[in-house]
Amino acid sequence: MQGKIEVGREIGATGEKLWGSFVEQMGRAIYGGIYDPQSDRADERGFRKDVLDSVRRLQLPIVRYPGGNFVSGYDWKDGIGTHRPRRLNLAWTQIEPNTIGLHEFYDWSKLAGTEVMMAINLGTATLRDALELVEYTNFPGGTEWSELRRNNGREEPFGFRYWCLGNEMDGLWQIGSMPAAEYAYKAREVSKLIKVIDPQIRTTLVGSSSPYLPTFPEWEKTVLDIAYEQVDYISLHRYYTHVKEGGWRAYLDQDRDLAEYIEKVSEIVQETKARKNSTHDVRLALDEWNVWHVENDSSADRWRVSDVRVENVYNFADAMLIAELVCVMANHCDWVQVGCFAQLINVIGLIMTENGGRMFEQTSYYPFLFASNHLNGKIREVRVVGENADRIRAAWCERKNGYAVLAVNGDERESAQLTLEVSADAEVTAEIMCAAPGDKNSFDEPKKVVPKTAEVMRRGGKMTVEMPPFSMLMLRCEQK
Ligand code: AHR
Repeated sequence: MQGKIEVGREIGATGEKLWGSFVEQMGRAIYGGIYDPQSDRADERGFRKDVLDSVRRLQLPIVRYPGGNFVSGYDWKDGIGTHRPRRLNLAWTQIEPNTIGLHEFYDWSKLAGTEVMMAINLGTATLRDALELVEYTNFPGGTEWSELRRNNGREEPFGFRYWCLGNEMDGLWQIGSMPAAEYAYKAREVSKLIKVIDPQIRTTLVGSSSPYLPTFPEWEKTVLDIAYEQVDYISLHRYYTHVKEGGWRAYLDQDRDLAEYIEKVSEIVQETKARKNSTHDVRLALDEWNVWHVENDSSADRWRVSDVRVENVYNFADAMLIAELVCVMANHCDWVQVGCFAQLINVIGLIMTENGGRMFEQTSYYPFLFASNHLNGKIREVRVVGENADRIRAAWCERKNGYAVLAVNGDERESAQLTLEVSADAEVTAEIMCAAPGDKNSFDEPKKVVPKTAEVMRRGGKMTVEMPPFSMLMLRCEQK
């Protein structure tokens, strides 16, 4: 199949927080994941150095923390100072030792070169708890909570800018779930007042947990109606899994579902803004997205610190879908401004570790790496023109002195020859990933599925790259 890449109008610029991730106090994300003092790979604080190296390569702009469902039962005061009580983690039937709390996670985030997006408990906690938390983290000093932070070793405010107003409050599984209006009034007050403490704060209102819950889209309409002026983003959560029919083609076609979901929520935001005659803009935070195969969820272990929870090992087909979802996000960057890939470590993670032992990067790590490293800037519409080109998905990003393009050939049988324009003095780097749909990385074979250098044929003002069936390409072109 011959496909010519054509670039069209500018869609928008990627928000600086689009390619973030998420670490929850869940499973082995923290204990056994980022923190493992038993491991000979840990630093003097107990943070795994190999994990930190891998996370740094992702150049994450933001990491959402500490949940997720966990946050709706969490008392942040358990994670500061010297008294660290062991508590029930009711969301995940585990024990939370509170060894890692606010200060420790902040320190880890600095080592990882990223910024924390804090989530506030709106399940069991009150408006007052939220205000005390923000006074503790963001107020310079001279008050009870800000002085306590200083006494606990952090002189300057943490200055957390991005805050989630609870998590999935429409879901019955959520600790303290509640009806839309009740949630919206509570969230509105929290948002209004934490912005009084620190006007730099940007808040995310909870949207429906999924477009397939009966709460959607009434939840969005109600919460936006009540809290529109006080918030900056509304959240979307989306996880994909196997489809019953249609094979890999139908599996990969689920990217269309994400596009529709984003478009529906953005319409509700626009309708709300128009109805209110508002000058304020609300954008979307896709603050949980990934592939999640629920069949691997079961774990007999309960009420321990490092119980295994949802440790999916991803195959190459999963990575292909993730690459397509990346294209959808980039191509909707005018609306989706914040994104958190859920999650970073062990729990449906990009990175997997053994307690005290080895680690590997999943197949899903690479399409995410392509996005976070190269799809930052102005996104333009992109079309692949040619017979049978409908199986190719792409995102095109204008970069300083050049451009980057991610392309995904989801056809299992046909290869694709992509043609792009290139000037004679431009430097081109192209990486290709290609494997059988079921291929995975593992502790024993950590580099089984990794990107390889792709061959680029240049002639005149054109270049051609061959994409084998079922492959993804990351190409960068830079003017010297
Ligand atoms: O990411 C795992 C869980 O999925 C989160 O805790 C929750 O918000 C979602 O349902």
